[in-house]
Amino acid sequence: MKKIIFKTPDALASAFANQLVKLSSDKQVIHVALSGGSTPKLLFEILANKYKNHDWSRLRFYWGDERCVGPDDSESNYLMAKTLFFDPANIPSEHIFRILGENNPKQEAQRYGNLLYELLPLVNEMPCFDLIYLGMGGDGHTASIFPHEMELMEHREVCAVATHPISGQKRVTLTGPVINNARSIVFLITGKAKYPRIKSILKDQRDFENLPAAYIKPTHGHLTWYLDDAAYEGT
Ligand code: 6PG
Repeated sequence: MKKIIFKTPDALASAFANQLVKLSSDKQVIHVALSGGSTPKLLFEILANKYKNHDWSRLRFYWGDERCVGPDDSESNYLMAKTLFFDPANIPSEHIFRILGENNPKQEAQRYGNLLYELLPLVNEMPCFDLIYLGMGGDGHTASIFPHEMELMEHREVCAVATHPISGQKRVTLTGPVINNARSIVFLITGKAKYPRIKSILKDQRDFENLPAAYIKPTHGHLTWYLDDAAYEGT
């Protein structure tokens, strides 16, 4: 496990954008699962501004989780990526595999799981992403695995239906085993609000029993924490 600490969210997002560019210059097809939330916004803006003419043709885009809303709903993780990155960078729709948030959640979790088995290479008999990047909520959730649904960290299906603990909003999320089956997992975490959980997970290494992010441990790949000073030092 590697930790990289940055002075600012912008420096963090720029560094990860660089990583994505390097990864995308690989010779083969690269399967990447995107995260939602506000942190990736900065990343998408940097990708669209600095790298929109880059050759992204080897990348295939998926999601770690999606809210059960339509693709034109302001809550949609897909809409955020489309508006901020896919459209400006002219990413072809056939390289984008969104979770259909408008579908019945249970059926969509099944459909998306089947799609991953179809499109991704299998390792340990499970779909294997080349890269999954994740955020972490202030409650320690990651993707849409929340503290009140810790069983999703061990779920036997690669995709499941989750429920937001406050809003009750249904989500479709990748589950722990397929996340931990990725070749590379990267957390992008910024902001002082995340410091208490980061302190528990990465410094004190205690009181993390109910923090899903603490259980992200790749079985054969690499884990890198991209953190800004605010999230890592609480400054
Ligand atoms: C989502 C995300 C979620 C997010 C965290 C952190 O759909 O909301 O996938 O897991 O990564 O809530 O969000 P921020 O980056 O906004 O702090």
